[in-house]
Amino acid sequence: MREAWKATNVADDIYWVGAIDWSIRDFHGYQTPRGSTYNAYLVLADKVTLIDTVKAPFKQEMLSRVASVVDPGSISYIISNHSEMDHSGCLPEVIEAVQPEKVFASTMGVKALSAHFHLDHEIVAVKDGETLSLGNRELSFVETRMLHWPDSMMTYLPGENVLFSQDGFGTHLASSERFADEIDEAILEWEAAKYFANILLPLSPLVTKALQKVEKLGITIDIAACDHGPIWRGDDVEKIVGLYGKWAAQKPTNKAVVAYDTMWGSTASMARAIAEGLTAGGASVQVMQLRACHRSDIVTEVLDAGALLVGSPNLNNNMFPTVADLLTYLKGLKPQNLVGAAFGSYGWNQAVVKQVAGILTEMKVDLVDEGLTAQYVPDNESLAQCYDLGVRVAERLKQVCSEA
Ligand code: FEO
Repeated sequence: MREAWKATNVADDIYWVGAIDWSIRDFHGYQTPRGSTYNAYLVLADKVTLIDTVKAPFKQEMLSRVASVVDPGSISYIISNHSEMDHSGCLPEVIEAVQPEKVFASTMGVKALSAHFHLDHEIVAVKDGETLSLGNRELSFVETRMLHWPDSMMTYLPGENVLFSQDGFGTHLASSERFADEIDEAILEWEAAKYFANILLPLSPLVTKALQKVEKLGITIDIAACDHGPIWRGDDVEKIVGLYGKWAAQKPTNKAVVAYDTMWGSTASMARAIAEGLTAGGASVQVMQLRACHRSDIVTEVLDAGALLVGSPNLNNNMFPTVADLLTYLKGLKPQNLVGAAFGSYGWNQAVVKQVAGILTEMKVDLVDEGLTAQYVPDNESLAQCYDLGVRVAERLKQVCSEA
């Protein structure tokens, strides 16, 4: 039978059989302007094995890609590296359709899949370091617990040296090209950074440990076959592994992010004056107004920054809702090693800037100022104070960078 969707050859007898989601623009609160892919892989061994599945609405696309190289009914094993529904959503229906001999997941994966789908089919638990014979090939499992769910694991295929890395090294990037070396490097790096910042940032210490674990295992990775976006091969593997090491370390740089919202333009004026001071002090600056910039882009800029300054006007004795949204999001993502400050305009209650400063303190941001305020509309003196604050933050940043 002719198939509308085709598999892509990744290496000898290994195929990409995932789905391209050209339309998704919001991935649980993370803005995805370039769409995404849900990658699944087929290993044509004696025991034909499917590694991960796709989001439920894309089941037909995945099975059609499988059918372009092999009868889906010949799949013997399914491996679930990660139970989040973008990779397991169609698993119950695929099990029903192909009737595999066995389905494997990590110990926590068995629990997570059961809690999601209440399946009748037994899921076999595999442990860290365990191997699975496919007849003429062998797979091994590397648990990456909490990267980024308790169930997460990776699967390694020696010979072709493919690491099926689930979310690790992923990008939300829909494309007709399947490999990183076919895609514009700048776009790729931005999307990989955005993925790390929005998904993996709070788990940075575990990322560092996982990279050390892989190094200790001494395995060669020629292909990093991730679950989103293009596949990394050749020199690109070393490159993305190096970037993960850098991002996870979160060493401060001389870049400052000024994120703010404004009601009548006063907090905006303060932000611009602060940015001038930061620039004069030698920092590189990104000024991001919250109704112009999405929270997921702001955290991407914060990923390689050394300073975070947050500005809010007072709205009904509370910070502006977009500022609360950003701070809630950022607090959960736990960026490290930041210096910063809070600022904002007010009419008759200065407490809001203290609220912002309080949250930044909870986030362990090293505050250079207790919170700079301006009443109603900042005059020249107020704006000069904003400029001075920028200079002071830039100076602290210089010091922090030299010590890092
Ligand atoms: Fe791509 Fe954590 O799911």
